[in-house]
Amino acid sequence: MNPYNPKIVDHFINPRNVGEIPNADGVGTVGHPSCGDIVRFYIKIESLNGQEVISQATFKTFGCTTAIATSSIATELIKGKPVKEALLLKNEDVAKALGGLPAIKMHCSVLAEDAFRAAIADYYKKSGKEQLLEEVKQQSQIHEEKELLSRNSSKGGKNK
Ligand code: FES
Repeated sequence: MNPYNPKIVDHFINPRNVGEIPNADGVGTVGHPSCGDIVRFYIKIESLNGQEVISQATFKTFGCTTAIATSSIATELIKGKPVKEALLLKNEDVAKALGGLPAIKMHCSVLAEDAFRAAIADYYKKSGKEQLLEEVKQQSQIHEEKELLSRNSSKGGKNK
């Protein structure tokens, strides 16, 4: 039996918002320590009615089916949201938006959550708002980019 519902399959086959944003305001790359999958998010921020809003969100994923689907839906969830609201989103919201994930694949949604948090953290750093970083880190499970990239390059790629 296929453990993936049609929405997951749709976001895997036709991922939304794939690619880079030139001159992104924030870029965040994270990876999962156990599987080595990597997700990178790009965000663009605009000021709207006195609020900082995520006007664009894109991603690139080197990972499994669910990492691609969760990244794709996460870009849709955060796009158009004030940054502060996006920070309230959890991986469970990402999984729910896809109609649920097999238990063994819940960690893939954590990767998507961490990636957009990392992009927001990068935006805060670049825009001199370091005092807000604590807010991002509070719920985050961000993993070190460097550690990840070295782990992956030592594997010499992967097949899934
Ligand atoms: S198997 Fe690792 S992110 Fe999906």
